Amino acid sequence: MMQPAGPPAAAKENEFCAILDFGAQYAQLIARRVRESRVYSEILPSSVPASALRARKLRGIILSGGPCGVYEDRAPAFDPQIFRLGVPVLGICYGMQLGCQVLGGDVQPAKAREYGPTSLEIEAKGDPLFEGIGDRLQVWMSHGDSVVRIGERFRVLARTQNTPLAVVRSEEGAFYGLQFHPEVSHTRDDGKLIRNFLYKVCGFSGDWRIEDYVAGAVQEIRARTKGARVVCALSGGVDSSVVALLVHRAIGDRLTCIFIDNGLLRRGERGQVRALFESRFHLDFRCVDAGDRFLEALAGVEDPEEKRKRIGRRFIEEFRAVAEEIPGAHFLAQGTLYPDVIESVAAHGGPTATIKSHHNVGGLPAELGFELIEPLRLLFKDEVRRLGKSLGLPEEVIARQPFPGPGLAVRILGPVTRERLELLRSADAIIQEEVRQWSDYARIWQSFGVLLPIRTVGVQGDQRTYDNVLALRVVDSTDGMTADWIYLPHEMLRRISSRIVNEVPGINRVVLDISSKPPSTIEWE
Ligand code: XMP
Repeated sequence: MMQPAGPPAAAKENEFCAILDFGAQYAQLIARRVRESRVYSEILPSSVPASALRARKLRGIILSGGPCGVYEDRAPAFDPQIFRLGVPVLGICYGMQLGCQVLGGDVQPAKAREYGPTSLEIEAKGDPLFEGIGDRLQVWMSHGDSVVRIGERFRVLARTQNTPLAVVRSEEGAFYGLQFHPEVSHTRDDGKLIRNFLYKVCGFSGDWRIEDYVAGAVQEIRARTKGARVVCALSGGVDSSVVALLVHRAIGDRLTCIFIDNGLLRRGERGQVRALFESRFHLDFRCVDAGDRFLEALAGVEDPEEKRKRIGRRFIEEFRAVAEEIPGAHFLAQGTLYPDVIESVAAHGGPTATIKSHHNVGGLPAELGFELIEPLRLLFKDEVRRLGKSLGLPEEVIARQPFPGPGLAVRILGPVTRERLELLRSADAIIQEEVRQWSDYARIWQSFGVLLPIRTVGVQGDQRTYDNVLALRVVDSTDGMTADWIYLPHEMLRRISSRIVNEVPGINRVVLDISSKPPSTIEWE
């Protein structure tokens, strides 16, 4: 039976800030800002009962913004008992409006919808929320409704030209309401408002460290597995590598890592992963040489989605075959991250309005019959990287570019053959070598070649050639959801192109992809 794990032990013991999600695009950003302040935070559905929060080491609550108006029928609410938990509450935008309404105020559509930068005039300069901020602050507004009347024991702390009640405070329940968004970088306070709320108002000590997570997760994994074996599909990417090291730290040789070489990897990849996990970290590492079977499954297939489906199915079959050979394997460790968890919660009834579609990275289906361990399920990607560092994962793995599960198969347009794989692998190795020398290499999100399904005429020596074309794709991005092509130095472009056409027989032309995402995607398939 697949079962998601609860929060790791460390998360339960750390002081904790609850973020109630009313469907804000920015709920994740709030959680990140709070964690950057070394305060552990989790995003919870707005409907969470106050009693569920009481059981934890709660020190503060943030109510997020949201797309609804408080008077709409479908407007999400919260349990008003949270005001009786004895911890301060910060309401942002919709969270402010709802909090003010519950505490005796009124909300109405604003005369003018306010969107963008606005100057905030701070009246209550002595309030701990504004410590170190001064008289004025540029803040970021995005609202259609406003609070027009506040409850009796409220004070106005700051205003803007269009919004007289821009920051309010109620003595009762220590509620602060902000009409603007302190979590976005366009609010120019350098994170002070959120930090002041956490440290000065709530009294958090700021003791959340990623290293604490290791101890808690290790305890949790030991307690859950109770002597049973755990298997893990290790791809060598950051997430699965961190999962493997973390589970290994918890249960040592009771972990078996399964690396499936699908024959669609980049040059040298299998050897590097093996050297790291087998020779250096001494993990029980099983490598499956399945390239021929993947190629067979892909024979003659052109359609990108069909390629993905066949690769996914083959992967599961290969994994199942090895896992069945491991006696007592009861658990499967997987590198699910927090954004995936939040998205799937939202997709199944939470209020979050926009759900991005994302790829299933090495996900294995419930029918495999394992119980699931997801030790990264409460972490953001940058936290996973820090965790990897604290577990001794080398920098080159931590900084590794994302690589799609279906590998080079989605970078060979048209049917995948052994010969075309080898062509692309050779060109890709040159691209990686050259871009790594660039002083701005850290800017690159992904850099790779795409083998096109056309041939063009060339001339090499005295010979006419009629050969393949390679497209070079180099993009920057923060999360893969949007991306832009990078202006590479001409000298580097020249070297890449000239090396590929000279060193890789079979490619006689290199072109540069200068499209952003959207409207294009990062991969070509
Ligand atoms: P696109 O091409 O959709 O890619 O802009 C966004 C990010 O996802 C990666 N990608 C995949 N990852 N399986 C994966 O595990 C896939 O099928 C897949 N397709 C794209 C892509 O490399 C980029 O980082």
